[in-house]
Amino acid sequence: MNYYQQHREQFLEGLKTFLRIPSISTSPEHTGDVRRAAEFVAGELRAAGLDNVELLERPGRNPLVYADWLKAAGKPTLLFYGHYDVQPPDPLDEWTSPPFEPEVRNGNIYARGSSDDKGQTYILIKAVEGYLATHGKLPVNVRFLIEGEEEVGGEHIEEYVSQRPARLKSDCAIVCDTEMFAPDLPTICVGLRGIVYGEIHVQSSDHDLHSGVYGGAAPNAIQAAAEIICALKDRQGRIHIPGFTDSVQLPSEEEKTAWARLPFNEEEYRVKEVGSTELTGEPGYSVFDRTWARPTFEVHGIRGGFTGDGAKTVIPARAVIKVSTRLVPNQKPAEVIEQLKAAVKAATPKGCTAEFRTVHGAEASLTDPKNPFVQAAARSLAQSFGSETVYIRSGGSIPVVGLFDRYLGIPSVLMGFGLPDDNLHAPNEKFHLPNFYRGIEAVAGYLEALGNT
Ligand code: BES
Ligand code: MN
Ligand code: MN
Repeated sequence: MNYYQQHREQFLEGLKTFLRIPSISTSPEHTGDVRRAAEFVAGELRAAGLDNVELLERPGRNPLVYADWLKAAGKPTLLFYGHYDVQPPDPLDEWTSPPFEPEVRNGNIYARGSSDDKGQTYILIKAVEGYLATHGKLPVNVRFLIEGEEEVGGEHIEEYVSQRPARLKSDCAIVCDTEMFAPDLPTICVGLRGIVYGEIHVQSSDHDLHSGVYGGAAPNAIQAAAEIICALKDRQGRIHIPGFTDSVQLPSEEEKTAWARLPFNEEEYRVKEVGSTELTGEPGYSVFDRTWARPTFEVHGIRGGFTGDGAKTVIPARAVIKVSTRLVPNQKPAEVIEQLKAAVKAATPKGCTAEFRTVHGAEASLTDPKNPFVQAAARSLAQSFGSETVYIRSGGSIPVVGLFDRYLGIPSVLMGFGLPDDNLHAPNEKFHLPNFYRGIEAVAGYLEALGNT
């Protein structure tokens, strides 16, 4: 038995400790937990035998955790990225076991962050730990940069990567924060969508009004909010934001052909993953097109008016709509922000004002599947999982990938070990434990392979 097989129990216990920390980056009341998670990661990196482990601090921001091991002269340098922050766990009553009390059931570990991204970040740490414990040294140079703001746009890491590129000098980034296309199908993700997230602030009068006394004469902020949303995306799923799709770069024929070979059953996807009676979206595009290669407009929530139990007859004066657009290669977040502002203005009904305010933005990213680091990763994954590696894109966003490309000039190998039914950002998030253990050995095998080239 090798180190990895001998230490499965310790790996699982360590992961559980990590998962018990409610490091919810969007909630100010969890600032202390976010810091504890950063310290946990730093402690693990130190114990694994890495050098220069430190928390990079910035007032008002969540710490970045840095570490390196740079003693493999003449060998490539890998930049390992992950995030220790998680999404909020609500709705709480839909969890079978509490989100921050990890529980193993049927070979899966259930907890918020199990797959996204604590479990996958832990894979990187344990792969390096095992290699150092076994060989006393690494076959390549590595740096770790683990952030605590990925789920809220990653401002701190953007600042750091753009201002200190020399400190991160590497040949390639390794990111375990995506999904496999199917269980047992090792997968490399070569495309992520970008995002512009924001709020639309709507106002219809300077105070709330009695809906009987003024109904019929006064504008209504929630009605206006609904009209704005419907103007930006119609019933057919077409987006109406002038200029929005002008620069969209189409996937190559080669890529489309590869997608067509992926095992995919649209009906099964609808029932098992989406859980709706119909799929929707832009007419004339496949599900892969719609979720990987086309931009979107989605509403996340509307705040305003009376939402309590019972009845209150009021005309709400204000509403806030949380929305985002997912971007594809060639779309520029700054341009999209301007397009959204203009589209919101144009869609605002008479008597109301509405303003788009940006929360965060990130560019889409593409990785060349022919890149040698990607090819080597595909071989290592195939070896560990016992079948050919597939290349896919994903509709999600990992903002730092675009920044690594822009400021460090390096590609990112997105070797994810999540599964499509892991319930990311949803109740009962899980991580498939066989993928956890295989992932650790696959990453270790990858290091070994890169050391031999
Ligand atoms: N790990 C996800 C992104 C992801 C999920 C990529 C599944 C591929 C497959 C990441 O943590 C995430 O959720 N990102 C946010 C980014 C945003 C808040 C800037 C997202 O996509 O909503
Ligand atoms: Mn993630
Ligand atoms: Mn996420």
